[in-house]
Amino acid sequence: MPTPNTTIKVLFLCTGNSCRSQMAEGWARHLKADVIEPYSAGIEKHGMNPLAVKVMAEAGVDIAGQRSKTVAELGPMEFDYVVPVCGHANEHCPLFPGKAKVVHVGFDDPPKLTAALPDGEAKLAIYRRVRDQIRVFIETLPGALPERNRQMDKESVRQTVREGYSKIAVSDSTSCGSGVSCCGSSAEAAEELVRHIGYSSDDLAVLPEGANMGLSCGNPTAIASLQPGEVVLDLGAGGGFDVFIAGRKVGATGRAIGVDMTAEMLTKARRNSAAYTQQTGLNNVEFRLGEIEHLPVADASVDVVISNCVINLSPDKPQVWREIARVLKPGGRVAVSDLALLRPLPQAVREMAQALVGCVAGAALVSDTERMAREAGLTDIVLKSKPKYVEAMTDWEDPLYRKIVEHLPAGAKPSEYITSLEVQARKSASKVDYSAAVNELVAIGAAIAVNCEPCLKHHYHEAQQLGVSKADMARAVKTGAGVKDSPHQAILRLAERLTGAGLCKPMDSSDPCCGSQTASAPPDGGKCCN
Ligand SMILES: C[S@@+](CC[C@H](N)C(=O)[O-])C[C@H]1O[C@@H](n2cnc3c(N)ncnc32)[C@H](O)[C@@H]1O
Repeated sequence: MPTPNTTIKVLFLCTGNSCRSQMAEGWARHLKADVIEPYSAGIEKHGMNPLAVKVMAEAGVDIAGQRSKTVAELGPMEFDYVVPVCGHANEHCPLFPGKAKVVHVGFDDPPKLTAALPDGEAKLAIYRRVRDQIRVFIETLPGALPERNRQMDKESVRQTVREGYSKIAVSDSTSCGSGVSCCGSSAEAAEELVRHIGYSSDDLAVLPEGANMGLSCGNPTAIASLQPGEVVLDLGAGGGFDVFIAGRKVGATGRAIGVDMTAEMLTKARRNSAAYTQQTGLNNVEFRLGEIEHLPVADASVDVVISNCVINLSPDKPQVWREIARVLKPGGRVAVSDLALLRPLPQAVREMAQALVGCVAGAALVSDTERMAREAGLTDIVLKSKPKYVEAMTDWEDPLYRKIVEHLPAGAKPSEYITSLEVQARKSASKVDYSAAVNELVAIGAAIAVNCEPCLKHHYHEAQQLGVSKADMARAVKTGAGVKDSPHQAILRLAERLTGAGLCKPMDSSDPCCGSQTASAPPDGGKCCN
């Protein structure tokens, strides 16, 4: 992250490098010369746009001396940030071939918007509007750059994943290689795979044709102990594979709901559900279009959340776990299968788009998975590593796994890095909602009490993400400070009396620390702390 006293090199890119990128360079030079070293370029040079020069001059910024140039003319220069400033919905922004963080910021294209207008005030008004919008953006730099970059990264991950699965949904062949990994497979290979990971003949008996696309890496319905009458939600349902299996288990009085963000998958699943109803006589499944980070499902309405090889694909996994906790009824449970990491993958694997769509590159560490579920407020978390899936992918020479091997240190196996993971957890049945926000507030207080600066920073950030107010955080800080200032023994004694936590050792009742009871606290039974 740039610090205020460091100059960062920023390249503003646009198609013609005649108007918006030139204005951005001009504003950055004018307003931020102490922190930004600005450049601009385009796909092809169009020369300086005279109206852009005019409206910038009106605002006191002279860009007449700037030169329109192509990216190639910049030579082998390195930048900290590349900021394409074209409106990305309508135009193709130029690609920057070098290494730099890319932060897209779309502005309207004044020449295009004013092409049909006569010269004069109406035309200039549009140039002035875009000029002022660019100024507002430049004023937020450099602070806004890393944040915008993070947002954009998330969106491009989602886009890559969606495109990958959309291709898989509409074709019978595979998208990330003709294998059986999370990238899809032939019907025979898909059946062999799911039998290998524990699906029974009974599970597969009345499955609509094409519902099993070989995209699974575990068997969540096997660990979910589904009961008739329950409501089950499948995150990233694909063609509906686990939804149909769950639907039969919960029966006519239950419901199985699948959510998926890829429209083509949804079309496939809905088509499959007609065959499911015909074969089983059940009308208890439905499919909803949506992202698992923003589930289209009411609070506390689901008995069991299942998911099969999907959460690894999410660019915001903590948010997925919070959504799981939100939609579960009190006492509801989680049965998730996913790929997870036993240790970090080499950079080259993390950067392979094929490995992202193939459920590997985005996978979280096992320990992080546990933490995210816990921080979302879930309890009774049990993780089980299931090495069979990754071993099979490697033995069957799945093309994705063959490629992964190429990027691992000599002799290393994918199963030393990647595992299929079963996650079981539960939402507390307590009437009180110990929500993720409350957890963060308690953690903020604890960070103060134990004087842990990194803990405070982490939990402050998490609480902010959850929308916790500064006033509530201030109260938690005050409580933590109060705890810190209290004599340690006294607070342990009080904690034991209030919670029955068994922290104190029995002592001679004549000891002065014993026996101080208040009306609101239970008696200490002659125990106190030493
Ligand atoms: C590997 S496939 C698994 C499909 C299915 N669970 C199965 O086992 O056959 C991943 C599925 O998750 C969906 N998906 C990925 N990321 C998602 C997200 N953030 N929100 C909703 N769906 C997502 C994809 O569209 C795809 O259908």
